[in-house]
Parts: sequence; structure tokens; C-alpha cells
Amino acid sequence: MSPEYDIASPGAAELFESLRAFGYDLPTALADIIDNSISASARNIWIDMTWDGAASRITIRDDGRGMTEDALRQAMRPGSLSPLEDRAANDLGRFGLGMKTASISQCRCLTVMSKPRDGEACIRRWDLDYIASTGTGEWRLLKGSDLLTDTDRRLLEEQDQGTILFWDRLDQLVGDAAVDDETAQKHFRERADAVKAHLAMVFHRFLRGRNAIRLHLNGRPIEAWDPFLEDTDKVDPLPAETLVADGEAVEVKAFILPHHTRITPEQHAGAAGPRGWNAHQGFYIYRNKRLLVAGDWLGLGMQKEEHFKLARIRIDLANSADLAWQIDVKKSRARPPAALRRDLLRIARAARGQASSIYRHRGKVVQRKLGSNDVFLWNHVVKRGKTYYKINRDHPLVRKVLETADDKAPVRALLALVEQTIPAPLIVINNAETPDGFGQPFEDSSADLRTAMAETFQALIEGGRGRPDAARALLTMEPFNQYPEMVAVFLEEAATGQ
Ligand SMILES: Nc1ncnc2c1ncn2[C@@H]1O[C@H](COP(=O)(O)OP(=O)(O)OP(=O)(O)O)[C@@H](O)[C@H]1O
Ligand SMILES: [Mg+2]
Repeated sequence: MSPEYDIASPGAAELFESLRAFGYDLPTALADIIDNSISASARNIWIDMTWDGAASRITIRDDGRGMTEDALRQAMRPGSLSPLEDRAANDLGRFGLGMKTASISQCRCLTVMSKPRDGEACIRRWDLDYIASTGTGEWRLLKGSDLLTDTDRRLLEEQDQGTILFWDRLDQLVGDAAVDDETAQKHFRERADAVKAHLAMVFHRFLRGRNAIRLHLNGRPIEAWDPFLEDTDKVDPLPAETLVADGEAVEVKAFILPHHTRITPEQHAGAAGPRGWNAHQGFYIYRNKRLLVAGDWLGLGMQKEEHFKLARIRIDLANSADLAWQIDVKKSRARPPAALRRDLLRIARAARGQASSIYRHRGKVVQRKLGSNDVFLWNHVVKRGKTYYKINRDHPLVRKVLETADDKAPVRALLALVEQTIPAPLIVINNAETPDGFGQPFEDSSADLRTAMAETFQALIEGGRGRPDAARALLTMEPFNQYPEMVAVFLEEAATGQ
């Protein structure tokens, strides 16, 4: 006997509205569509973003294998294939959702036209406004060749095979902007630039080499952005390692990028990437050579710091590792399995150590040139055979505080109080009991160290020093003299006037 049940299908209009909120932006949405074209063996992908006010349109066309009418009907269904299904080794998909969720995150009307080799072209459309207007909650997938104009259809009919997506009613990108709305048009153009930068990065390994695909945006080819500068011989890779977790092997290879003095200014500027040098340090996770994560320390307890920015580490996954690495629908996230964290931490430490040693070395060279007139915050004073510790009133930060305070008396009183009550005897005892028990200054608070450094730097400048000179002065000042790599970054920024 079959159990009792109700049919509880979601209302189409409601669920579509919810599916819009997956958190795509325009570049990540387009990347998800291009995944499909690549999985369909496309050699060329053409993206066109046409400004026409509220009627602006984005099309994505490929010359891949296309779909039969049955396949297209199935492909248009949210959840067209279970994520549990085994996929071909070069398939970039996983959830059976991307084409729908990515498209409708940007537009309210998605039309797909596809044509397999030796087959007829077919068309299907999800129109969110139409679905809402029926008031039935039905999943009405529109069909028929009259959904598109002759000109639109010709875009594909002239090819042997392929697929084209039309994104209309781009409410996220243009809303109801008038055609002559210059601000909206400028925004549209800027988003096109962001798309270009993102796709150049995400698909860079498909855009070069023997079986390279070609990506065109508004008629122009998109050039690869390679985070590892593999076409220069200036990058120091650490040996590649294969790590295994849950029976899945991943390859990890760290690259130490060259200091900017070893490459051309153009190479240096280009290598910065869409989000800049600092943001693009860390792990790069690729799934079937498609980039998911572009620089992240993966929650291993490490921060992004300027002096680690030359460290970029590549991780290569196969799509069979999706579950273990918690790949998301947008293909913009991956989390390493717990079993790999120790190894990844070890590799990250080694890469960070090497990257910062480049700056450390540079800082030390300058330090040596400057000699050792170190500026201390604490001065050791002996008076009548007794030892005192006094705060150096000439330290730039102390001087600034004393000069800028409206009421100087409490500041002076505070300094005197600190000096007079410093628990020197206790420190001596502790040190005798546990000689290695003291942390180094700012040992586990690099953010505080950076703030202290920045404030001191600022105080030096306000005290009349030039920026490069102020940065150099930091190298002779306690405790910054112990962190030449961090000061070296300051020096560089001071020199380039950033
Ligand atoms: N450009 C295309 N050419 C040929 N087939 C395509 C194309 N785009 C989509 N398809 C077909 O439509 C299906 C659904 O695509 P969709 O992006 O929604 O899901 P997916 O790629 O299977 O998984 P994911 O949600 O991870 O992207 C694909 O599996 C593929 O069979
Ligand atoms: Mg897909």
C-alpha cells in the first residue's frame, strides 16, 4: 500500500525569486555560463553586452556541441542533473543549476537557443514576469521560434552547432534606465571591464596553450591573466606536492613571485590582478583548471599582509573532489578537508617565509647602510648607583602626543607614572624562572604592530621628514627594526608615492 501524501511543489514565481538571491554578481554569473560552454567543448565563446537603456541585453554564444530539443528542455529545469551523479572528468558543472541561477540572478528573462550538429535549432525561455502574471504557480517554460526575431535567430543559425543565451530585462545591471542616462551607461561599461578582468583570471588556463579556447567580449579577445607569471623565468616555484584526503589526490605548488625590481613595471602592474597585490596572495584553487578561489589563506589562521604578497600557491582539484572540498553552486568557494589542513599550513608557512624573506633581505640591506643609531622607546638610566627606565621623550610618537595634547599635564603625569611603576623586579624574577617565557614585541598581533608602525611613520612625517626618510627611520627604531620585511614594504610604498 502506498503511503498517504500531498503534492507540495513550490510555486514557480516564488521559487524563482528566491533562486535569484544566490549571491552572484555579473562577473561570477557569466563565468558560470562559460563553464557550460567549455564543458560542451566550445572553441569560441562570444559575450556581447549591448547598451540600450532598460532594453539592454547580454548574449553569450558558443560553438560547442549544442543541445537537442529534449536536452534543452531538461537543461532548463532547475536541478537538471543531481549533484550526486558522476560527471565526465572535464565537466565543469556539478549541481544542475548554474545556467538558471546565474542567468536569473542578472535578468528577468532568459532565452536559450541551441543547435546540435545535424539537428534543428530549438528555443526555450524562462520569463519571470510572465510566470508571475499567470498567478498559477506553474512552471511554464515558453517555447516557439517566434520568441526571437529573425536577426536574433540568425546569430546561431549561421553556425553548424552551438548555444546562445539571451539575458533580457537586466534589472540588476540597468533597471529602468533611459537610453541617454550617462551615469547608468558608464556603470554598464565599468561592469563590462570587471567582467573582462574576472574572466581573464578565472579561465586563464583555458586561454593559453595548445587547445586554447577563445573568449570574446564585445568583439575583442580576452587575454589570460596568469597569477604565477609562468611565461617569465623570474618566479621561484617550490617543489610540487601531492596530498591525499578521502582517496582524492590534489596537487599543491607554491610560487614565490619576483620583487618588482626584477620584472618590468608593466609586468608588475599586470601581475597585481583585479583586486591588487595584497588581496591576491594565498591559495589559488582550481577545479579542472578553472579557478574557484583567487588568493585566500583558507581560514588557516593567517592574515593577508603586504610582506607576504609575493606568495601565491596553486591547488589543483579534480571534479571528483567536489564534495570533500565543499564546492558551491557559484564555483566561488572551496574549503579544504580537515585532513589536509596541517599540510596546507606547512606549505603556506614555507611560502610565506620565502616571500617575506625577500623583503626582509631588502630591509636589512638598508638597515646596514644606516648604521646602528637605534631609537629606543625605553632608555636605561643609572642614577646614584640605581637603575631606572625612562620613556624617551624624543621618540617621534611620544613627542607627537606631547605636542598635540591640549592638556599636556595628564600626559606627562601618565608617562611619569608608567616609568615609576614599571614592575622591573618582577620582570627580573620571571625572566630568571622562565628565560624563554617572554614573547617578542607584537609577536601575535601583527595588526597592532602595523598600526603602531603607521602611527610612528605619520608622526615622523608630521615632524618634518620626507616619506622615504621616515620609512628608513623606522628601520632603526625599536621594535620595528626587528621586522625589516614590514618596513621594507613601507619603504617601497613611500618610494612609489602610494
Ligand atoms: N552552452 C551549452 N552547451 C551545451 N549544453 C549546455 C550548455 N549550457 C548548458 N548545457 C546543458 O545544460 C545542463 C544544465 O546546465 P547548468 O549550468 O544549469 O547545470 P550544470 O552545468 O549541470 O551544473 P552546475 O549547476 O554546477 O553548473 C548542463 O549539464 C548541460 O548538459
Ligand atoms: Mg553549469
